[in-house]
Amino acid sequence: MTESAKWREGIRVLISAEEIQAKIVELGKAITRDYAGSELTMVGVLKGSFLFMADLCRHIELPITCDFLGLSSYHGRTRTSGVIRITSDLNQPVEDRHILVVEDIVDTGLTMEYLLENLSTRRPKSIKVCSLLHKPEQRLVETPIDYLGFTVPNVFVVGYGLDYLGRYRNLRYVGVMEDAE
Ligand code: IMP
Ligand code: MG
Repeated sequence: MTESAKWREGIRVLISAEEIQAKIVELGKAITRDYAGSELTMVGVLKGSFLFMADLCRHIELPITCDFLGLSSYHGRTRTSGVIRITSDLNQPVEDRHILVVEDIVDTGLTMEYLLENLSTRRPKSIKVCSLLHKPEQRLVETPIDYLGFTVPNVFVVGYGLDYLGRYRNLRYVGVMEDAE
């Protein structure tokens, strides 16, 4: 480990940068095909989805608008509390728009359930979900994931937007913290 790589010591690669980028090309094609002839509002869930959203939107060949909302869903370090609130709302109304929610990971599903309920009260034309990751073993509520990147085991993952105590979002891959395994 070189001196400059010390900050990411102890993180094992689970999904490589190449695998992520290849999957994004696939997802972009599927979304482009499914929404052909329509306009789309991509809604990124901050902060975890910012890299995924940035890469994904560049593979969608449609007129899109991008908006973001902030949610806080956990207070602990690696556990979801189930208490969810909007910390920063969308800038634009989504009435009569096709919404694609872009998330980093669906774990228990509680965050997505809350978000879909909230967005549906704003009378969009449709709502679909695109999540980079899904941790099915942790699922408490059934929420649809229309476009999925990868299924991951029940481990705490970091990188490519996902954090541990705010860190590691800037990894180009998704990794597992070895001392949390
Ligand atoms: P859920 O409400 O349990 O589905 O949790 C969703 C949110 O918890 C995600 O949007 C992430 O921000 C966070 N989260 C869940 N699992 C992980 C993980 O393994 N690493 C980093 N963040 C996670
Ligand atoms: Mg999140």
